[in-house]
Amino acid sequence: MDTLTVDVNVSRPYRVHVGTRLLERVGEIVRPLVAGAHAAIVTDSNVGPLYAPIVEESLAQAGFKTTTFVFAAGESNKTLATYEEILAHLADNHLDRGDVVIALGGGVTGDMAGFAAATYLRGIAYVQVPTSLLAMVDSSVGGKCAVDLPQGKNLVGAFWQPKAVIADVGCLGTLSAEQLADGCGEVIKHAVIADANLLDILEAHPITLASLSENLPLIAAIVARNVEIKRNVVVQDERESGVRKLLNFGHSIGHAIEARSHFALGHGTSVAMGMVAITRATASVADDPEPLIELAHRIAKVCEAHGLKTSCPYEAKELVASALHDKKRRGDAIDLVLPLGVASCTIQTVELDQFFELMRIGLSEEELS
Ligand SMILES: NC(=O)c1ccc[n+]([C@@H]2O[C@H](COP(=O)([O-])OP(=O)(O)OC[C@H]3O[C@@H](n4cnc5c(N)ncnc54)[C@H](O)[C@@H]3O)[C@@H](O)[C@H]2O)c1
Ligand SMILES: [Zn+2]
Repeated sequence: MDTLTVDVNVSRPYRVHVGTRLLERVGEIVRPLVAGAHAAIVTDSNVGPLYAPIVEESLAQAGFKTTTFVFAAGESNKTLATYEEILAHLADNHLDRGDVVIALGGGVTGDMAGFAAATYLRGIAYVQVPTSLLAMVDSSVGGKCAVDLPQGKNLVGAFWQPKAVIADVGCLGTLSAEQLADGCGEVIKHAVIADANLLDILEAHPITLASLSENLPLIAAIVARNVEIKRNVVVQDERESGVRKLLNFGHSIGHAIEARSHFALGHGTSVAMGMVAITRATASVADDPEPLIELAHRIAKVCEAHGLKTSCPYEAKELVASALHDKKRRGDAIDLVLPLGVASCTIQTVELDQFFELMRIGLSEEELS
């Protein structure tokens, strides 16, 4: 299978490679991009045993000296403490300004290794090797990296662009069904905000563990298309001041649901519930509600086909407290992404009261008319 590439022309441009058997080619791809001879792989305790040896071998063949830092998998370890351990690993191994960090894993690894690379020696090169679907279609592209604080997620971070992103879709086969579905939430989000054709494809060929083994080239094409959609947004707005907010479709309500569940509900499921709710709510205030009611049904159906539940177990009033903690809130207002149709959305600033009313309508069981 040919490798697909997507170029991201931000302030420091880079290329995203999508295909199969790319882990074996990490060394060859990275070699021309960095001056140094030392590559530090950062990975987690699930991904490391599966894939680090292949990446180490490939880097060694390209002439790199490698070291590997493995941290305990999971969002609960995306902390300043683990970040500090990564920095200590880089310093202990004498990585210098010309060397490179390889982030091998899901979004937690990418965010944390990226932030370490952004700050170690005031910034050294890093390469994203995303292994979860979420990381391939979302977190590895765009240059945002961060760690969590006890007070909230992603509260400390930076914008730091990778030198390259290498997405080997062959890695997706070792995800659990839930982990795969989590990434599908973002894939469906991209389709709804930007690509009617992608939505048709997802309806006809839902991404599941079974479909992965049957049709890897289709999955690679879907991943590459998602990278293009995210790229098209981030190149217009590298530091998230305007249009990049479109990527938050379904996320204002989704984040409130996710937080209210104390993260028992996955991000993909929470966003699926949020997308359906905000679409229903937008229908309720539209001059012609029918197309948006239909779109809400369509989003619900395609989410369910990807293993994502869409009916929210909470009432809107139970979500108000978590919604008030939304990092994206600006004083008494919040920027909401409202769908106008497939591949057409608008960003509207609404008062918090109005947001809670939209959430109430979106999550109520009543049929809209
Ligand atoms: N920087 C951004 O723009 C951005 C965007 C969206 C999300 N994020 C961040 O991404 C994180 C979520 O990403 P995630 O869902 O990938 O989380 P994750 O990195 O924790 O990965 C999920 C689980 O899958 C495992 N895993 C990953 N790849 C695997 C593979 N190929 N085979 C087997 N197991 C594998 C991991 O070990 C982990 O247990 C959050 O911390 C979120 O804040 C960042
Ligand atoms: Zn998301």
